[in-house]
Amino acid sequence: MNVVLMQRSEAEHARFAADVRKGLSMPHKALPPKYLYDARGSALFDQICGLPEYYLTRTETGILRARSGEMAALIGSHATLVEFGSGSSVKTRILLDAVRDLAAYVPIDVSRDYLRRASARLAADYPALRVHTVVADYMELERLPIANGGRRIGFFPGSTIGNLTPSEARRFLRRAARLLGSGGALIVGADLAKEKDVLDRAYDDSAGVTAEFILNILDRINRELDGDFDRSFFRHVAFYNPEASRVELYLESTEAQVTHAAHESFVFRRDERIHVEYSYKYSIDGFRALAHASGLMPAQVWTDADNLFSVHFLDIP
Ligand code: AVJ
Repeated sequence: MNVVLMQRSEAEHARFAADVRKGLSMPHKALPPKYLYDARGSALFDQICGLPEYYLTRTETGILRARSGEMAALIGSHATLVEFGSGSSVKTRILLDAVRDLAAYVPIDVSRDYLRRASARLAADYPALRVHTVVADYMELERLPIANGGRRIGFFPGSTIGNLTPSEARRFLRRAARLLGSGGALIVGADLAKEKDVLDRAYDDSAGVTAEFILNILDRINRELDGDFDRSFFRHVAFYNPEASRVELYLESTEAQVTHAAHESFVFRRDERIHVEYSYKYSIDGFRALAHASGLMPAQVWTDADNLFSVHFLDIP
């Protein structure tokens, strides 16, 4: 069964145009990272997840594999698993294998294509599982269009929460708690702060895949918003800022130039940057405090032997 919330590709296009116009007209230029994930961007991100420098995905996957039994015990029987930004649902399978009696699985994603493909594959591999796909931006979803009993367990892996500033993260956590309801819980993956050189390399890999991933947003603007960005006049800049506990990712203009898109022109100074992403890094206590400040109760946390990554089980009171 498919619950399609947003059948508004024209509205999405208008929104993209407005976000690009606004973002590139600000004194500090910026583009929202969600626009990185068109078909090519999603494929490049999948490639990033397999890079030797990008430890996040394999580390989190290892934690989920090692701890899925404990997670299943905390999840309990006949729960509904709700995934925020499900992408290709790879990590979800670890939970689906451990929790055999779910009432339903509800993947939420902005990409209809990704959702359709992922849920077709899940239906083939888990014939007994009820899957309700929701095409939506989980940051804007007000309620879940499912009429189901059972506890609702949210799943937000991948350190996607790191894309949000701490105050946005609190807002997300409060909203997710409301969506899932009292008595539910949220399982969140959060990357941990660590040595600068490890983080610098994770976001500026030697094969240049991350650079390609970030530069791809310019190709998307050119294609979808009739733009004329020349990617050879921009370069990928990424580094860990320990004071702010975040990796900062930018596209830097290598020349003074004027570009056009969405019926507007944008003036760039040489070395001027477009901010594209933050990737916040937490301490275990810092993340628990953030959850607590958002009204959730940290119940359990798992990490790997090298303390690279953390997975939190947060109860919703
Ligand atoms: C998808 C937000 C978790 O911050 O590590 C990876 C995105 N950007 N490499 C991250 C990303 C460049 C990723 N998240």
